[in-house]
Amino acid sequence: MLNNLKPQAPDKILALMEEYRADERDQKVDLGVGVYKDAEGVTPIMSAIHKAEKQVWETETTKKYAGLAGQPEFHAAMAEMVLGKGYPADRLSCLSTVGGTGACRMGFELARMANPDTTIWVSDPTWPNHLSILNFMGQAFKTYSYFDAETRAVDFDAMLSDLKAVKSGDIVLLHGCCHNPTGANLTLEQWGQVADLLEESGAIPMIDLAYQGFGDGLEEDAAGTRLIAQRLPEVLIAASCSKNFGIYRERTGCLMVLGDAATQKTTQGSLAYLNRQTYSFPPYHGQALVTRVLTDPALRAEWEAELEEVRTGMLALRQQLADELRRLSNSDRFDFVAEHRGMFSRLGATPEQVAKMKAENGIYMVGDSRINIAGLNKNSVPLLARALLDAGV
Ligand code: LMR
Repeated sequence: MLNNLKPQAPDKILALMEEYRADERDQKVDLGVGVYKDAEGVTPIMSAIHKAEKQVWETETTKKYAGLAGQPEFHAAMAEMVLGKGYPADRLSCLSTVGGTGACRMGFELARMANPDTTIWVSDPTWPNHLSILNFMGQAFKTYSYFDAETRAVDFDAMLSDLKAVKSGDIVLLHGCCHNPTGANLTLEQWGQVADLLEESGAIPMIDLAYQGFGDGLEEDAAGTRLIAQRLPEVLIAASCSKNFGIYRERTGCLMVLGDAATQKTTQGSLAYLNRQTYSFPPYHGQALVTRVLTDPALRAEWEAELEEVRTGMLALRQQLADELRRLSNSDRFDFVAEHRGMFSRLGATPEQVAKMKAENGIYMVGDSRINIAGLNKNSVPLLARALLDAGV
C-alpha cells in the first residue's frame, strides 16, 4: 500500500522556515513565515495571554470533553470582535476550528456539502495553502485578478471585471484585511462595490480574516467584513486567533456562518457534524484563553495595548524601509511599502533576485518576493534595502 504514495512537494513557506533554521551564517534575516517577531527576533507570549493562561490553570478542574462545535462563550466573544456589538445572533452559526486554516477548510467543506457544484474564486495571488487545500479536496476553483505588479496596489478594475463572471452559488474568497501575500488591500468604498457585485450575482462571500488588528486597527480591519456581513444574505468568515493573540501553536480559529434565521439550526448542526467527521472536538485551551482576554476588561485593555504596539511597530518598519529605499534609489518606486498593511508586502523581485538575496545576503523571503515586515528590525532594514537594489529590484 505505502509504495503507492507519491512524494509530496513540501509547502514552500514551511520549507523556507526549515532552510533558514539550518543556515549557519551569523548574519541572516528571516522574512519568511508569517509569525510576528519583536526587535530581538523573539515571538513573545503576550502578557494578557500569559495571565489568562495562569487563570485557566488555577481554575480549570477537568479535562473532559467540551463542546463539539466549540465553546458558546468563545463564539460570542469572537462574533463581537469580528462583526461588532449587535451582531445578528439569530442568523449566526459558529464553529471552533483548528486554527484559521481549519476554519478555511471547514468553510470549503460546508460550501461543498451545501452545493457540490460550487466554484470557489480566489484572488490571484492568494495564500498558497488556499490553493493547496482546494486542490487536495478536488474542489473546483478559479482565480480573479487582484494585484497590479507595476504599482503593487490592488488592480480593482481587473478584479471587478473578472468577478463579473461569478455565478449564483459560487463562493468568492476575500481577504478581510492585510492581504496575504501582497499587503495591498481594498478601500471601504471598493468593499461596497464588491458587495454590489455579489448581490447582483448571487455569489456567496467567504472572508479569510487571519490578521485582524495587524493593519489599521482592530475595528478598522473588520470594516470590510462588517460591510459584507450587513449587506449579503449568506456569508462565511474564517477567523484566526494565531496572529492577533500570538497563540500560533494553540491552533485556535473560528468559522462564522451568517444565513437566514430559518436555516440557522441546520447550519449549526452541519458545522458540528463537520468537526465530528474530521477530528471530533476542537482544541479547547486557545478558546479559553481568547475568551478570557476578550471578556475580562483588564485583560482586554492589556491585550489591545500589546496588539497596538505590534501593529504600530510594523508600520514604523514599513515607513523606515520605504524611506531607506527612497533615499538609496533616489526614486519613489518603493513607496508602496508604506502604503501596504499587515505583515506582508510583495516587493516585486523575480525568483532569481530572491535567490540571490538569500545566497549573498542571507535574506530569506518567499519565492514570490513576499516579505514578513515583522522579521525586520531597525538594523536589518538598511541591509534589506541595499540588498534589494544590489539585486536589481
Ligand atoms: C504565512 O502565510 O506565512 C502564515 O499564514 C503561516 C502559514 O501557515 O503559511
